[in-house]
Amino acid sequence: MNIDEMEQQLKLNLKPERYRHTLGVAYTAASMAMAFDEDIQKAYKAGLLHDCAKGYSLVQQRKFCEKYRISLDGILTDSPQLMHSALAPFIAREYYGENDLEILNAIECHTTGKPKMKPLEQMIFIADYIEPDRRMIPGLCEVRKMAFQNLDVCTLQILDHTIEYLKGRKQKIGYKTIETYEYYLKQTKA
Ligand SMILES: [Fe+2]
Ligand SMILES: [Fe+2]
Repeated sequence: MNIDEMEQQLKLNLKPERYRHTLGVAYTAASMAMAFDEDIQKAYKAGLLHDCAKGYSLVQQRKFCEKYRISLDGILTDSPQLMHSALAPFIAREYYGENDLEILNAIECHTTGKPKMKPLEQMIFIADYIEPDRRMIPGLCEVRKMAFQNLDVCTLQILDHTIEYLKGRKQKIGYKTIETYEYYLKQTKA
């Protein structure tokens, strides 16, 4: 699918506010690709596709997980909102004809991040957090600036905020988030 077709399809499948967020992530990721000399088209496409599974209800998402044999381990059962990122590469491939592995990997880890992310993966993880439509939260201005300066430091800032936020709301913090946080803490100290 070319970008026009992808946008039309996403507009049909996502709620208007989700589609607006999607465009925000695509443009933000593309801008970051400009700042870091990465592939702008890939960043834009990955931004477009990152929430492509969000057009389905949690019940439908669960059915898709069965169909694609995605194991619903503890994390997915405890935090069903993480299902859409596990599903994203499968939906992107089947319904949006996307076969680029770098794009598929980037959309798969966009909610929790993972250790040793590639720049494209980091840009999608970060763009999801900072896109212009995101409501203002403490520290967001600093994170937004850092997004165009240092991807590792920015990733760490986001994970730090996310963990504090989840702690504050007494919510469970997934092991993947902790693992990613610890990796980038080491990485930025080195
Ligand atoms: Fe998402
Ligand atoms: Fe998103």
